[in-house]
Amino acid sequence: MRTDLAEARRLLHRARRITVLTGAGVSAESGVPTFRGEQGLWKTYRPEELANADAFEANPELVWEWYRWRQGVIAGCEPNTAHRALVELERCSSSFTLLTQNIDGLHQKAGSLNVEELHGSLWRARCTREGKTREDTGQLRCECGAWLRPHVVWFGEPLDSMMVALSFHAAKRSEAFLVVGTSGLVAPANRLPRVAADYGATVIEINTEPTPLSSAADFFLAGPAGELLPKLVARDA
Ligand code: OAD
Repeated sequence: MRTDLAEARRLLHRARRITVLTGAGVSAESGVPTFRGEQGLWKTYRPEELANADAFEANPELVWEWYRWRQGVIAGCEPNTAHRALVELERCSSSFTLLTQNIDGLHQKAGSLNVEELHGSLWRARCTREGKTREDTGQLRCECGAWLRPHVVWFGEPLDSMMVALSFHAAKRSEAFLVVGTSGLVAPANRLPRVAADYGATVIEINTEPTPLSSAADFFLAGPAGELLPKLVARDA
């Protein structure tokens, strides 16, 4: 595994098809708490205790209250230089897919276009009976009378199968695969970098610390995404 940013940049710019996988670390410099970081707690709850179907069934109001709190935190956050670098990378690429595990919507707010939200969106709700999604307007119940729930993937729930298929397809056909700010602990997203590597992509990881994904990466660039991504994406450096 190499750590040479200039060489990683050269290979990235040669790639015709680019896929990026992001996690909470990309939004950390915007002030969004990471999942497994110390600020991830609300009241006394860990995310795992509230982000699951049993918790919602037992106390939907409590779970919604937590999501409203998270919406409030994130509404005050702006995209950072890492998000903006990815917008620039998309602009200069002929084929670009951004797969994010983040539900904060900051990639779209920055201007990224081809974004797949693998774990859903903090800003959408879904009817627990009909499964239809809609913008979250603060309503707790659907017109049909059933509870609305946050349109996010909870612990123990599968991801949307079409989105998973699309993600693996993108990983397999990419020539460069960037992995940014994810602990690599959550499947199936954490399988994507290795699949991309197996199909011949150059895998470049950016993280403040090594992860279980680092062994599959051709390059590991250690440091904050907001500092390293703009350097990696810059054309005239
Ligand atoms: P985590 O909180 O598990 O990991 C954040 C990663 O970002 C860690 O590896 C940090 O080292 C790294 N990091 C922190 N600050 C950074 C910075 N400024 N620049 C670069 N890297 C930085 O978050 P995720 O990996 O996104 O799923 O978590 C994956 C999924 O776990 C979440 O989407 C969520 C949770 O279960 C669901 O809710 C379904």
